[in-house]
Amino acid sequence: MAQGLRIIILFVYFLFSVKGEGSTRVGFYSKTCPTAEKIVRSTVESHVNANVGIAAGLLRLHFHDCFVQGCDGSVLISGHLSERTAIPNLGARGFEVIEDAKAKIEAKCPGVVSCADILAIAARDSVVLTKGMSWSVPTGRRDGLISSASEVLTNLPSPADSVSVQKDKFAAKGLTTEDLVTLVGGHTIGQTDCQFFRYRLYNFTSTGNADPSINMAFVSELQSLCPAGGDATKRVALDNGSQNNFDASFFKNIRDGKGVLESDQRLWSDPSTNIFVQKYAGSIRGFIGFRFGSAFGKAMVKMGNIGIKTGTDGEIRKVCSRFNA
Ligand code: HEM
Ligand SMILES: *[C@@H]1O[C@H](CO)[C@@H](O)[C@H](O)[C@H]1NC(C)=O
Ligand SMILES: *[C@@H]1O[C@H](CO)[C@@H](O)[C@H](O)[C@H]1NC(C)=O
Repeated sequence: MAQGLRIIILFVYFLFSVKGEGSTRVGFYSKTCPTAEKIVRSTVESHVNANVGIAAGLLRLHFHDCFVQGCDGSVLISGHLSERTAIPNLGARGFEVIEDAKAKIEAKCPGVVSCADILAIAARDSVVLTKGMSWSVPTGRRDGLISSASEVLTNLPSPADSVSVQKDKFAAKGLTTEDLVTLVGGHTIGQTDCQFFRYRLYNFTSTGNADPSINMAFVSELQSLCPAGGDATKRVALDNGSQNNFDASFFKNIRDGKGVLESDQRLWSDPSTNIFVQKYAGSIRGFIGFRFGSAFGKAMVKMGNIGIKTGTDGEIRKVCSRFNA
């Protein structure tokens, strides 16, 4: 009797593990397209060598992909009212790198490797090429069939969001407060437009002053880069002094009041996130950056699992910017 029950339980478990929430695994293409990851790597490398900022662009694209419709390549679709046309994606960069890698992979193994996976691998390679720690990327995602501009603003956090709103938006994707702080550490590379933080520099307090959480000397530097009424699209490093290195200095900067985005700086002032910032900013000799580096890869794998399509869901696009049909 007990034996029979055990067999039934095992059988039900088996059914669920096959039919239920699909999952990805490292090396999904090892038989069907063994050179896929190498091709992505060499493609990303050549683009990053030409313009190092592309690494930051690719990392951000993967984040924007995962938070809207899951990690399914929906951010890559171009055309009327697609995600790409929404405000947070207007400054997004790196699309051409994914197109380039996809074309090379299609030439080798047509119809096998998803755009969603190419983007996830490219994000990892971008971190490695900016001297960050590597991680293995589980693959087997399929490309989605929906890309809608109207879903972007509601799902993505805004640079003016409070810590509690940031936490809610990450929790809605199954990510913890620790994951939030770790993943926002992606701002250790790349840049922002003046328009996303300039309001902090002039009359933030309604008594004429800048945001008091910004280091005084840093306020003047930011003001000279982003004068009131100046070019809103002027670019400023998110991680002052280290924008092309995937290290832990972003966390030291926010500890020191040198966060550029308001949402980043608030991670220091809120007690629930401050503990994690302190952990990553900590300067235990020999371990600087290591704690963050290894945590970042783990958090990226978790983020890379959001809302994925597997098995026979979705499709494998031929061109990443267009649905097949
Ligand atoms: C609370 C969460 C977040 C907010 C509010 C936020 C906001 C922003 C903003 C406003 C920019 C500047 C965009 C521009 O000027 O075009 C930016 C850039 C960037 N973000 Fe985030 N972000 C968040 C989380 C993340 C996460 C989780 C990652 C990656 C894991 C990430 C990676 C990046 C990168 C690499 C850039 C630089 C892009 C470039 O230089 O092209 N961000 N982010
Ligand atoms: C700052 O903002 C307040 C309230 O919005 C306004 O009354 C005041 O005139 C502004 N001051 C400056 C210097 O712009
Ligand atoms: C950040 O750091 C550099 C030093 O590398 C400095 O020259 C620059 O003006 C700083 N400020 C800002 C706002 O980027």
